[in-house]
Amino acid sequence: MVPTAENYDVVIIGGGPGGYAAALYGASAGLDVALVEKYKVGGTCLHVGCIPAKELLETAAVHRAVVGASTFGITAGEPSLDFSVTQQRKQEVIDKLFGGLSGLLKSRKVTVLDGTGTLHGDHLVRVSGGSSGDVELTGDHVILASGSVPRTIPGFEVDGQRVVTSDELLSLERLPASAVVIGGGAIGCEFASMMSDLGTDVTILEALPKILPGLDDDITRVVLQSFKKQGIDVRTGVAVTGHEPHDHDGGTKVRFGDDETIDVEMVVVSVGRRPLSENLGLDGTAVKVSDRGHIEVDEWCRTGEAGVYAIGDVIATPALAHVGFAEGVLAIQDILGEDPVPVDYGRVPWCIYCHPEVSFVGHTEASAKEAGHDVVVSKRRFGGNGRAIILDEAEGMVKVIAEKQSDGTGGRILGVHMVGPWVTEQLGQAYLAVNWEATAEEIAQFIQPHPTLSEVFGHGAFTLTGRSYE
Ligand code: FAD
Ligand code: NAI
Repeated sequence: MVPTAENYDVVIIGGGPGGYAAALYGASAGLDVALVEKYKVGGTCLHVGCIPAKELLETAAVHRAVVGASTFGITAGEPSLDFSVTQQRKQEVIDKLFGGLSGLLKSRKVTVLDGTGTLHGDHLVRVSGGSSGDVELTGDHVILASGSVPRTIPGFEVDGQRVVTSDELLSLERLPASAVVIGGGAIGCEFASMMSDLGTDVTILEALPKILPGLDDDITRVVLQSFKKQGIDVRTGVAVTGHEPHDHDGGTKVRFGDDETIDVEMVVVSVGRRPLSENLGLDGTAVKVSDRGHIEVDEWCRTGEAGVYAIGDVIATPALAHVGFAEGVLAIQDILGEDPVPVDYGRVPWCIYCHPEVSFVGHTEASAKEAGHDVVVSKRRFGGNGRAIILDEAEGMVKVIAEKQSDGTGGRILGVHMVGPWVTEQLGQAYLAVNWEATAEEIAQFIQPHPTLSEVFGHGAFTLTGRSYE
């Protein structure tokens, strides 16, 4: 240990969801915690991820509501968008949450240092380049939570105008008239949906045969139909090969597939994120980094160096804020010697906030079969649900995948995949069902309030018992 360096129970590098959850949870358990952050606590999620993206999607939802107001007899006129107000509100939401998080860290007595942290031998962390100056700390334990940054692709250099990633898109002063979104994953579909609702002509170019990896095929079909109806052009199985900026306007010609081209004002590159591990030092440690840049860990997020953990997007687990929270808690519990249960990555909740919304947990029908399960499924549409019809949002379905019992009824629930109104808020029950390994019969014992959207999941599980009351 370096004698001059202040020692903490835990030093955390990176103040995003993984890092701040570990800091808050560790402090709540009585540990003395230091958190090193080079930008602002909150990380990608708060400043250039979940929160601003969902705020802009909410603007799109309000716009949709105004467009559809006449269905309810309300005359609202043609909506117009002042994107500067939208951006201002987005920033206010971020600032409010940032203030709350900073206050929480302070009240839990977490020492927050502003600067870039690097890890060296003997758990020494050097901090530099920020307002905390050059500082050395040691931690009985160290947690690496440096997160991730957008991936880019050759031939599409990001200039913040013609070619953007999520980082730039979230802060645009105005939306483009037309855009190509490269990559039909979570970011691509959320941005495509938001921009299309707000008037941009959108084309998604996806390299794989399907958009939204991980989603059950029946649910993907509903999303595709809906995107088509909204005017979003989805092209799958196409490779992009480059683009040529126009001379006459700010736009560009994108080349893809077999010599196809499309002229657009903006290209949004959303082809995944890469772990940010190259700025962590790590010399003189036994921490291992994979070829793809992920820090290698075991089930408890322990790296190769005793007492050093890595959590969140910098490790090769689902890149989700709530997975980062769970890993932060897990690492602290392991530090406390509490023998915690590792995260079950195959059964974490996924919520995508495009329109229509998508959410899922556990197996798809195909992956359950691949894993050797004999399955029975129920598919129930929102079209027959009272609340959905009242909302004028009756598009979508809930698919419940269960183990098939010898009498043909559904046993243990293996997965639930949803598309439709507010399904991100409805996944909770399905998440508990899958992770508690509940059977269809057990779920059927519980009453769903009427009229609610959640009846669709409840009845879906109910019908798997072989009977139904509706
Ligand atoms: P990050 O949030 O990336 O935080 C890492 C932090 O470490 C950063 O603040 C960085 O400045 C800091 N840092 C890095 N290196 C150092 C260093 N050497 N020293 C000091 N500080 C350092 N997930 C969801 O669950 N739901 C969503 O709806 C969702 N929407 C998203 C939308 C978009 C547009 C994007 C881009 C992502 C979205 N995500 C969403 C993913 C989510 O943002 C990430 O999974 C999450 O932020 C990862 O948390 P993290 O703590 O691992 O890393
Ligand atoms: P992603 O991995 O979800 O999707 C990237 C898509 O781009 C894939 O479908 C991939 O096949 C495609 N792709 C890759 N290279 C390509 C190329 N050259 N041409 C065309 N397509 C190509 O990554 P994304 O959307 O960038 O998001 C990163 C991560 O952030 C997500 O995996 C998710 O973990 C997280 N996220 C979560 C959200 C949520 O939970 N609501 C919202 C946004 C992001």
